[in-house]
Amino acid sequence: MDRAAAPADLASLELPPERMRALGEQVLARVVAHLASLERQPACGDVAAQDLCRSLRAGPPEHGTELEALLTPLFEQWVGRSFNTAGPGYLAFIPGGGLYASALADFIADATNRYTGVWQAAPALVQLEANVLDWLREWMGFPPGTRGLLTTGGSMANFAAVVTAREARLGERLREGVLYASTQSHLCISKAAKLAGILPDRVRRVPVDGAFRMRVDALRDAIAADRAAGLRPFLVVSTAGTTNTGAVDPLDAIAELCAEQGLWHHCDGAYGAFFHMVPELRPLLAGLSRADSLALDPHKGLFLPYGTGAVLVRDGAALRAAHAGTAEYLPPPADEEFYDPAQYGPELSRDFRGLRVWLPLQLHGTAAFRAAIAEKRQLAVEAAATLAQRPGLVLLAPPQLSLFAFHLHRPGADLERDNADTRRLLAAVNARQRVMITGCTVDGRFLARVCVLSFRTRRERIDLAVRDISEEAASILGSV
Ligand SMILES: Cc1ncc(COP(=O)(O)O)c(C=O)c1O
Repeated sequence: MDRAAAPADLASLELPPERMRALGEQVLARVVAHLASLERQPACGDVAAQDLCRSLRAGPPEHGTELEALLTPLFEQWVGRSFNTAGPGYLAFIPGGGLYASALADFIADATNRYTGVWQAAPALVQLEANVLDWLREWMGFPPGTRGLLTTGGSMANFAAVVTAREARLGERLREGVLYASTQSHLCISKAAKLAGILPDRVRRVPVDGAFRMRVDALRDAIAADRAAGLRPFLVVSTAGTTNTGAVDPLDAIAELCAEQGLWHHCDGAYGAFFHMVPELRPLLAGLSRADSLALDPHKGLFLPYGTGAVLVRDGAALRAAHAGTAEYLPPPADEEFYDPAQYGPELSRDFRGLRVWLPLQLHGTAAFRAAIAEKRQLAVEAAATLAQRPGLVLLAPPQLSLFAFHLHRPGADLERDNADTRRLLAAVNARQRVMITGCTVDGRFLARVCVLSFRTRRERIDLAVRDISEEAASILGSV
């Protein structure tokens, strides 16, 4: 057969180097233009997109399309139809921002596609991940015997910790075990308990004090009541920075009680743990270093793009015991000296997620991260202090870290009226599209909350937030 007449080699998915470069440059041009315009983009984005979503439904393409034709709607029509989570005005939920250096790391990790599930497949690359875990350990004040795991987020980090505590403290006697967390703990804790086989009737929601922190007296009483009922209290989950109001539980007192009662103390530091990197701020998290395990979220407090959480376990052997395993088709696990990810977590194949933490820290240096974290707290403290002066604005939860929550109140108004006014305020502030804030309901009261944690949120943007909130509050409270 005449080779020249043969059809193109359809089975080849490889690209020649010039084409790779050209495609990369097209993507880079789009990404850089997008990031450079974040400041000017609307803070909330237009997410009323049912019709758009319906129009996007499509089957798999049989034939290829030019990249530019794909990038155009992606960047011009679809990316913008979302919360602007990367922008400087994102003060909603718990921000992070998404460091560019991590995007570069992901590109390298995906392009080189090395296997970091087991140590022996990429020892040097796994060592970089081990270094990252060791840095986290040091910043959190955990001892050298600690082992950890990079996960996809805080929920998975908390899950790994709950499983480890369950294995270490309950063995096969799951049904008797009781877990304690405050009424303000994150949804992922009860989810983790359920997935770990601790059913809802064995999860106690401990009440909080006026600053939304777990009440240790109530915790003590709950433990005693469960023991009296023949159950086995085994785990207390504290929170270092709650999602609703940013409250830090009394970590030292909880550590003390857990030591006295022989309970595992896990701390959910998904939002707040990275404030411990800054020596001057450590007193805000006193006792964090005493926890048996700690969840932390680099995609929040280290400003990474979504997709990276971490867990540290003081007794590294316990984390390993909960997850270790071998198989005939795998190389033998590395010995203790070398970190072997699959022995410390549920995944085998996984992305090389250590690089997206390692590269930005190497590129910017740790000092830059400490400075950025300290700045976010300072901005929150100052903004809260200014807003607290505004008539009719009640700062119910001043910043314990970098999150504060407040509501409106006009003289004589009842709870329902306060809630309606505060919801109106939230909608009016967001409609200005310079910042995005979200709310939460605690004991029936609706609170607007501001969380300063994006690396792109600097003083100029916080000043705009304070101005928008002040003006809209005055306008609402001045109206009949
Ligand atoms: C206190 C706390 N714990 C856990 C989580 C869950 O983390 P992720 O969303 O990374 O799974 C969050 C998320 O906001 C959080 O604020």
